[in-house]
Amino acid sequence: MRLISIDKAHFGHSLYEHIFNLDGQCLFTAGIKLDANIVDRLSSMGYKTLVIADTLDASIEPRPLISDGLRLSAVRLMHKTFQAIRGKTDIDAAPGLDLKAVFDACNAIVDEVAMGERRRVVDVIGVKNPEDYAAEHAVQVAVLSAYVGSRMGYNLMHLRDLVVGGLLHDIGEAFVPAELVNKKTKYAPDDSSKMQLHGVFGFKYLSRFTEIKATSRAVTIQHHERVSGKGYPKGLSGTQIHQYSGIVGACESFDGMTSDRPYRLRQPAILALGVLMSSKEPQFAPELRDIFSQLFAPFPVGTWVTLSDGRHGIVKAVPKEAITRPDVKVVYDPLGQTIPATVVRLSQSPTLRISGIPSEF
Ligand SMILES: [Fe+2]
Repeated sequence: MRLISIDKAHFGHSLYEHIFNLDGQCLFTAGIKLDANIVDRLSSMGYKTLVIADTLDASIEPRPLISDGLRLSAVRLMHKTFQAIRGKTDIDAAPGLDLKAVFDACNAIVDEVAMGERRRVVDVIGVKNPEDYAAEHAVQVAVLSAYVGSRMGYNLMHLRDLVVGGLLHDIGEAFVPAELVNKKTKYAPDDSSKMQLHGVFGFKYLSRFTEIKATSRAVTIQHHERVSGKGYPKGLSGTQIHQYSGIVGACESFDGMTSDRPYRLRQPAILALGVLMSSKEPQFAPELRDIFSQLFAPFPVGTWVTLSDGRHGIVKAVPKEAITRPDVKVVYDPLGQTIPATVVRLSQSPTLRISGIPSEF
């Protein structure tokens, strides 16, 4: 598999994975050959990136961070949750949450992550269903937070509290006018200040649910605070920001940057990581930045890369012990001519490095 921009899709590519709508119906099955009709339909649904397969990337098979079934059910839960309260102006009178379903989803995410491979690297970045970015984002932030918390040695109880905060961190966006949340152009300054209220709204809404721990609820209002004091809404700094909020804030920032939005394309993971780990004007605590550098692969599986000798290839796997030096399936010479595929293990090739991320071939 590999990720390509939809405008590079052509006949000969197949879909690598099923594409579902949020009612759980399978719209396109894995393996279907792309044609102009399918690409047009996906494009009109809002897809900008596709996960495809062809002979070039045969044998590149990333493992999902959580099972597909759990992801789909959690996204559907968040879709229904947002739908039930979107557009309500009176937060106190808005419908309640299905807390049992929320806790069950969070427990299932924690169980899969905690029982999975020890020291698993976040080496895959998927493509979101554009039908409901907020629901997809909520689930991915919960999953990434579970990986960070797990790497930090959290026990199951703390992991669950963290993941509840991650899943519900942006619940307050439901109370921001929909035309602003769904705006297809970049925000004007006035739009941004209105959007920034979502944390306050979310905190107010969740204060009704005392079954949710206070530290999980606080994530809604604190996840845009930054250790530098330059976040919002209160400009908290350093240890004034609870660790759950720092983790969720970093994961939501990473996921936002690496996702397609109506007004821009996804950014490469290595650039998003640069923002997370910047020490010049740090946004996150040093202990979190250490974890990110050990956990998030800068070149996830399925990424096109150029090697320092000019050859081009696709990241095939990311070794846990050398996450910046992945295994690359090299398929093109420096002139872009097809060559017999070979796998270069950068962890064992000290003279080679990744020199760039080309636009796809
Ligand atoms: Fe947010």
